[in-house]
Amino acid sequence: MKEVLVIYFSQTGQLFDILKNISSTISNAKVNISYYEIVPAKKFPFPWKETEFYDTFPETFLQIPTPLVAVPAEILQKKYDLVILGFTTWYLTPSIPINSFLKSEEARTLLNNTSVITVSASRNMWIMAQEKVKKLLIANNAELVGNIALVDRNLNHISVITIVHWLMGGKKTKMLGIFPKPGVSTEDIEAASRFGTPIQDALHQNDYSNLQKNLLSIGAVKVDPSLIATDIRGNIVFTKWANHLIKKEGEERKKWLVYFKYYLLFAIWLIAPIVFIVFLLTYFPMYRKIQRDKAYYSSIALKQD
Ligand SMILES: Cc1cc2nc3c(=O)[nH]c(=O)nc-3n(C[C@H](O)[C@H](O)[C@H](O)COP(=O)(O)O)c2cc1C
Repeated sequence: MKEVLVIYFSQTGQLFDILKNISSTISNAKVNISYYEIVPAKKFPFPWKETEFYDTFPETFLQIPTPLVAVPAEILQKKYDLVILGFTTWYLTPSIPINSFLKSEEARTLLNNTSVITVSASRNMWIMAQEKVKKLLIANNAELVGNIALVDRNLNHISVITIVHWLMGGKKTKMLGIFPKPGVSTEDIEAASRFGTPIQDALHQNDYSNLQKNLLSIGAVKVDPSLIATDIRGNIVFTKWANHLIKKEGEERKKWLVYFKYYLLFAIWLIAPIVFIVFLLTYFPMYRKIQRDKAYYSSIALKQD
């Protein structure tokens, strides 16, 4: 019997639905699938209030862990052949619950010397968050053997508008009846079941060497090269903001978070389009680097920096 553990944190259930669909085609008489939901001791709100949404930024970005409810003993005591780690991106970083788990002793116990497949469901900016997860997996002595990254496939700015409607309004519905539904589409969530087949094969053969190649051939990751530069630049600026904001307390913090909110709106609506235009203008001279970056961020390798 092969033992698979699905570890996840999903506020609205979107990521959980994807994980269930993937698991549906991994499971058979010889595979036992267990689920472990990461539960923060202090619940994160959903729907989000604007102030709480921005207030999570400094701790998320600086990857400061929060206390979690202990992992159930029956999960912790078993040895798993494969772990599927479902995470979402918050502020270009793995969400606080996922980061907290990956920095815990329990993660070390569960992931040590274990093959891991990452599954993310974000708006569309997941690339640098995945790099941070890669590092945390190495710190836990885990081996990343596959990655599936699902996103909202609508235009970047459309997805910004619709995700606010979803996360602050609480419903994954068409805003004003005319915008597309936010998040990963219903079709993509359902079609995620196709990823289970190559995972099941690799699990039975205990050979993951071709898994990422096989997953890529069925569309597990589509790197949008125009978002790579935005994600990298975003990380540089967020580092400055987060280190500044973390030092502020009480009313001072509240005041600076308002400035941060306006900065974020400015970055999304003015800086990101400029970065996109620069990307287009330099597309041909940068063609080879773009292809290299696309291949790297679709892979499970980790650059040494
Ligand atoms: C505080 C916060 C920050 C987020 N930041 C990002 C981000 O930087 N990039 C991105 O692609 N999605 C971002 N998202 C969207 C999430 O990755 C995710 O798709 C959404 O919250 C639904 O996930 P769920 O399965 O937990 O409900 C953010 C969501 C939240 C709540």
